Amino acid sequence: MRLFVLGSAAGGGFPQWNCLCRVCRLYWEGDERVEARSQSSIAVTADGQHWLLLNASPDLRQQILNSPPMMPTACDADGSGRASPISAVLVTNGDVDHVAGLLTLREKQDFSLYGTAGVLDVIAQNDVFAVLDPAHVSRQPVELNRAFTPVPGLEVEIFSVPGKVPLYLERGEVDVGEEGEMTVGVRLSAHGRTAFYIPGCARVSDALRDRVRGADALLFDGTVFEDEEMKNAGVGVKTGRRMGHIPISGSGGSIDAFDDLGIGARAYIHINNTNPILIRGSQERDAVEAAGWTVTRDGMEIVP
Ligand code: MLT
Ligand code: MN
Ligand code: ZN
Repeated sequence: MRLFVLGSAAGGGFPQWNCLCRVCRLYWEGDERVEARSQSSIAVTADGQHWLLLNASPDLRQQILNSPPMMPTACDADGSGRASPISAVLVTNGDVDHVAGLLTLREKQDFSLYGTAGVLDVIAQNDVFAVLDPAHVSRQPVELNRAFTPVPGLEVEIFSVPGKVPLYLERGEVDVGEEGEMTVGVRLSAHGRTAFYIPGCARVSDALRDRVRGADALLFDGTVFEDEEMKNAGVGVKTGRRMGHIPISGSGGSIDAFDDLGIGARAYIHINNTNPILIRGSQERDAVEAAGWTVTRDGMEIVP
């Protein structure tokens, strides 16, 4: 099984187009301790030919241009001349950074689109996604906690994690941390290896800890280092948890939550532009690495 990181940043990417927070500023000033990152997405294959895209980011077209495994290949030509190795897409929530890239996939290429019924409904209710011609794109609602095989040799299971509805659907009081169909994590199994991809998660429950115990790899929500980071950076008022993202550090943070579970490789993905782990050599980057975590980069491959 190969996991290819197409985009390692959270919504907005790094740097964010309009941001002069401390971390983005380093990029604009040409500081070599930081590098640009596109919005969160990975691709997974078990046979090296058919790839499952996990989330479709607004940066998808450029991600494909930058990623040799995603380029059209003769062995995938279906007779129409359309030949992408991307054979299926699974979306883990309805956030803009996870679904906008579906619009990039509109050019008469056959693939299946998987998600919970709840998230596929959100997509169905937005007419712009009608550009995905049903003659080519089949929408497949998947149930929680039931394995399926979207591409040859890859077993996938989705499960609920604490989260919330997408920002653009927030109305009134928002239930952050609800476990339902709007935010899911993903188990990926092939060739006797198992990896988890959880780019958004408001809280780590004991059930989630049990689920990932002993996994070969975990790619997890690295949105913010500290809960109050957006406020401290002067770019927002919401805490990480209010955005549906557990912080990395502190008590109840993700470093603590996944310590001692015997997980092979642990890597942060979906990293917000305010997060100082983006700075090589920062105290925070050193802290996550000392705790055994990797900070993912665009173009990185993980073989669990
Ligand atoms: C998130 O992950 O919290 C969202 O991507 C935020 C957004 O939609 O801007
Ligand atoms: Mn996001
Ligand atoms: Zn910024």
